[in-house]
Amino acid sequence: MDQKKNKKIYIETYGCQMNFSDSEIVASVLTKYGYVAAQSIQEADIIFVNTCSIRDHAEQRVKKRLHHFRSYKKRNPELIIGLLGCMAERIKTVLLEEEPLLDVVAGPDAYRDLPRLLEQVESGQRGVNTLLSMEETYADITPVRLGSNGVSAFISIMRGCENYCSYCVVPTTRGQERSRDAGSILSEATDLLKQGLHEVTLLGQNVNSYRWVDGGKDLSFAALLLQVAELDPRLRIRFATSHPKDISDELLNTIAANPNICRAIHLPVQSGSSRILDRMNRKYTREGYMERVEAIRRIIPGCAISTDIITGFCDETEEDHLETLSLMEWARFDYAFLFKYSERPMTLAADTMHDNVPEEVKDRRLTEVINLQQRLSYASNKRDLNRVFEVLIEGDSKRSADHFMGRTSQNKVVVFPKAGIDTGTKPGHCVQVRITSFTSATLLGEVV
Ligand code: 5AD
Ligand code: SF4
Repeated sequence: MDQKKNKKIYIETYGCQMNFSDSEIVASVLTKYGYVAAQSIQEADIIFVNTCSIRDHAEQRVKKRLHHFRSYKKRNPELIIGLLGCMAERIKTVLLEEEPLLDVVAGPDAYRDLPRLLEQVESGQRGVNTLLSMEETYADITPVRLGSNGVSAFISIMRGCENYCSYCVVPTTRGQERSRDAGSILSEATDLLKQGLHEVTLLGQNVNSYRWVDGGKDLSFAALLLQVAELDPRLRIRFATSHPKDISDELLNTIAANPNICRAIHLPVQSGSSRILDRMNRKYTREGYMERVEAIRRIIPGCAISTDIITGFCDETEEDHLETLSLMEWARFDYAFLFKYSERPMTLAADTMHDNVPEEVKDRRLTEVINLQQRLSYASNKRDLNRVFEVLIEGDSKRSADHFMGRTSQNKVVVFPKAGIDTGTKPGHCVQVRITSFTSATLLGEVV
């Protein structure tokens, strides 16, 4: 390991949890090679931006950011700037032409190659690798936990996606679906436990299609989840994201039987209209989705359900939109991420459909789903009033050092005063909290 490598790297991450997890892999690859993490962007010798392509807006934000970095580079011509992730994969050629300041461009499967790419930069060339792989899962790489709260961590269990939802860029940017070696997942979770962490989130674009075949054993996601849950009954386990088409009863029964698997399922519905779901290539209908929600409610009472919704997809009529609103009302989602459709090049929708819902109609429909969700989130929190929940403390409340902040198994944020509770209580501990008031975003309570 040579000395030049004491260079400081700073990674700025956009997009999904998966991307945050990837940044930890990047940090691990580079620290093994002698690079060190910068404490702030100002002191960095190398800035990496880990990017997202899911909506045009996400890409525009990164472009603005790169523009901003021009002044950094003027001040320090030695500064290396690299673009990682989905945008690097999607628009490498354009970026290399338009952004002379980019030294490195690396797609999601090229992170092991970063040390070599950086060496290329040192020898005066640009370092570019956007090859996608059919095997890469970074299974053997122990992520360097960036910005960890010391309580919870992400574990990536699979990569890529092959669902080909017609609006979605991910199969193009992240390539084929592949599951990670189950043994490496279990040992990563065991290491985290040893380090004193209390919660892990298993991550994949569609965790329900996780499958690991080894020595005659065929492990489903439910079986993997059970093995992680059995490592320690005190370890809380979460997972994301589930596709409604393959969230099985086997999985729901596994959750029900293991109290340390959190009572929160993120189940993106995208639309309440079967006609639009068909055009989105989601492979389930409105009724099929409702049946899965009923199964969750029956098998795991008290389980929170959250969702993603896109408004204004190609050909969406007022009737389709009303179906989305009525499904939301029926499902009583506890939480939702709400978006308006953004056409992405090289998707099935961009190639074969018309982005024909006018912008102002998309906006109005989005406002309607946002307003409805606010009402539903408020009602969901209201149902928790006077109930007692086990809360895993994550740290101080953002607003006051006299209060702790933590989460319920249902993934709701709870804020409560420190006064009057055991002085030894600290982040990582679980306490029983009675909910005494609430807003649509937060529960407030007191330890019982
Ligand atoms: N336009 C708007 N929203 C999108 N999503 C994915 N692709 C698009 C798109 N082209 C949303 C979906 C997905 C979430 C991660 O982002 O709701 O579940
Ligand atoms: Fe964005 Fe999707 Fe890539 Fe995550 S996988 S960074 S959400 S485009």
